[in-house]
Amino acid sequence: MQLGQPSRTALATAYARAYHQVATEPRIFTDPLAIRIAGITPDQLADLETATLQDEIDMRRRRRLFLAARARFAEDTVAEAVAAGTRQVVILGAGLDTFAYRNPHPDVRVFEVDHPDTQEWKRQRLDAAGIELPASLTFAPVDFECQTLAAGLAAAEFDRSRPAVFVWLGVIMYLTRDTILDTLRFVAGQATPVRLVFDYLYPASAATPEELDQRTVRADLVASIGEPWLSFFTADDIANILREMGFDRVDDRDAPNLIAGYLGIEPRQGSTAPPHVLCATRTA
Ligand SMILES: C[S@@+](CC[C@H](N)C(=O)[O-])C[C@H]1O[C@@H](n2cnc3c(N)ncnc32)[C@H](O)[C@@H]1O
Repeated sequence: MQLGQPSRTALATAYARAYHQVATEPRIFTDPLAIRIAGITPDQLADLETATLQDEIDMRRRRRLFLAARARFAEDTVAEAVAAGTRQVVILGAGLDTFAYRNPHPDVRVFEVDHPDTQEWKRQRLDAAGIELPASLTFAPVDFECQTLAAGLAAAEFDRSRPAVFVWLGVIMYLTRDTILDTLRFVAGQATPVRLVFDYLYPASAATPEELDQRTVRADLVASIGEPWLSFFTADDIANILREMGFDRVDDRDAPNLIAGYLGIEPRQGSTAPPHVLCATRTA
């Protein structure tokens, strides 16, 4: 991230979730606050969709559907955890995520952890959009690269001795491997049952030539705005790491299968390195 600036990729993903609410496409994720927090009208969102080539239109749509699907996967996991008795939700690298402001469970505490610059900007956006801060929400500003999650959450009165669900969407690719491993260890050390949902990118070497072209465009774009991708995993790598840390269940989905599952269609074939999202659970 650029020093003193909020995350620009957080705005990009917020725009995608907002556009998903109004675009002509199957609705995977419903978020009645997505447009308000993005601070943009549906017409302005549509104007930003400048792609004219069919390939690019399709690629943007697939990306939007994945962002919608990973949010749905995370919120479904939260709902399951809450039904099973969990009362703490931690959104890591929250960006403009709106779960905390739609939280249907008054007795569930939500902790939003984010880089201090992004969190300050989000608070201004919430204020500008007239979105109230619920009493169940606590902000915990943390720079993962130079502050500990343990200290940030302790200051927010997060309870390490009670179960929790952690959601970490669209973040780990922007962090160094050591920082990711430290955070995974912290989550694994939470009182059980603990669930963790996050998405990750495969190394470029796994991509087909067509995927590699599209990926290079995206990688260059995020690097050009000061948020380069730094870390990559395969499904086997990450499953081994999680199991060594004590997670006993890993439910890993790739983007085509995740999207197809929600839409009740056959998954799109031909991709060898799509983004993945997983839910890791430590039950004991
Ligand atoms: C692509 S955005 C994703 C935001 C949100 N989770 C979503 O899905 O829309 C990346 C998020 O990671 C956060 N982030 C990046 N580097 C960080 C760091 N070193 N410490 C804390 N947060 C960081 C950014 O502030 C931003 O909120």
